[in-house]
Amino acid sequence: MRVLVVGGGGREHALVHSFASSRLATQVFCAPGNAGIAAEADCVDVGGDDLPGLLAFARRERIDLTVIGPETPLVAGIADRFTDDGLLVFGPNARAAQLEGSKLFAKQVMEDAGAPTGRYRRHTTVAGAFADLDEQADYPIVVKADGLAAGKGVLICNDRDEARDAVDACLVEKRFGDAGDAILIEEFLQGSEVSLLALCDGKTVVPMAPAQDYKRIFADDEGPNTGGMGSYCPVPGFGPDVVERVIADRFQPVLDALRRRGVEYRGVLYGGLIVTAQGVKLLEFNCRFGDPETQAILPRLDSDLLELCLAAANGELAGVPVAWKPQQCVTVVMASRGYPATSSKGDVITGLAEAAAEPGVTVYHAGTARKDDHVVTAGGRVLAVSALGNDFAAARDAAYAGIAHIRFDGMQCRPDIAERAVRAEQGRLRLFPAGLAG
Ligand SMILES: Nc1ncnc2c1ncn2[C@@H]1O[C@H](COP(=O)(O)OP(=O)(O)O)[C@@H](O)[C@H]1O
Ligand SMILES: [Mg+2]
Repeated sequence: MRVLVVGGGGREHALVHSFASSRLATQVFCAPGNAGIAAEADCVDVGGDDLPGLLAFARRERIDLTVIGPETPLVAGIADRFTDDGLLVFGPNARAAQLEGSKLFAKQVMEDAGAPTGRYRRHTTVAGAFADLDEQADYPIVVKADGLAAGKGVLICNDRDEARDAVDACLVEKRFGDAGDAILIEEFLQGSEVSLLALCDGKTVVPMAPAQDYKRIFADDEGPNTGGMGSYCPVPGFGPDVVERVIADRFQPVLDALRRRGVEYRGVLYGGLIVTAQGVKLLEFNCRFGDPETQAILPRLDSDLLELCLAAANGELAGVPVAWKPQQCVTVVMASRGYPATSSKGDVITGLAEAAAEPGVTVYHAGTARKDDHVVTAGGRVLAVSALGNDFAAARDAAYAGIAHIRFDGMQCRPDIAERAVRAEQGRLRLFPAGLAG
């Protein structure tokens, strides 16, 4: 099979790495890829948002399966364009991708499906939103832009003044462009978050192992939000029984609710869950693999990812088994100077081979490029160093042992990734309320 992966970050490197080892793959391409991906796939100089360019390439190169990494091309309808042209694609069509593209649409589908989520109201006018806030007694409260806002469109507000500012930022200042033309004012949910990704073929839902990620730039969850500074998989206390129940009671009904609307969801459905004292609730859906969750999930996968993606794209997931390694995986992201406000390009990176030589370690490239004989930084998040270990303590030690070899000017990484998983597996911390079970 000839496979094309669309995107060029750490997630796409993890996908390419898995596909490159598949017995089904004869050639793997990646558009646009990065310096690390180039070692395992043929990188193509076509941007991930260049739909006509991608389509032309896939046709010319007779690609058998195209796997889409980021959400933007999915929401823009890349799957529809490929399907219309008779090309097989892993990733939802534009209507299905609205689960991520519109938080309001996601809420409506969750309601249809009876899937528990936070209470919310939709607003398009400042007067309406302010009147709503005047009636609010409970803070914090969450103000969300309806559309895609690159992870920046959610504002958690501690009092009415902050909430009014957030409403203004969306509806008046247009900080998120069209994405903020409609907003949701949502109940604040308290609890520990879990990312649960599932492969879907329109009817069947096959869960991946659960993961947790770290959003803030600094240790102890301080500082601004980022695309993600680390992750681990699986999640202590969120066992297969809980996963099965969440799939049966939340994911499957959502897929069924979409089908009732005439929408087939094929691809990865990523549920952002929050485990509250009242049980597991849905925060959001994403329509693609998570970054950096994927870099912690895939090293544990003991099945052929390409076979799974192909089955999902063909509507043939029913009965396909998925096996997991018993080890745990920890992923630590290394970012460049200035991230997340800015990023630094062109800093030479050393120690990559030494890091990859550590037992259990895989170094995924995110924002890297090749310059002469060097690999250099080319974005905010530069690398994701993943390590497998027999427990979280060993996996964490291995990931940081890998990182210890790597150097570049201004590099930033959190020192505390998976600390809580280590404490949880040792019985020193409870991540979830007692009684969370299947
Ligand atoms: N209702 C809520 N209660 C508490 N925290 C929330 C709520 N909604 C969002 N958040 C926080 O904001 C983050 C981003 O929100 P999310 O809905 O996932 O949007 P996006 O990922 O598109 O920015 C979540 O991971 C969570 O930490
Ligand atoms: Mg999110």
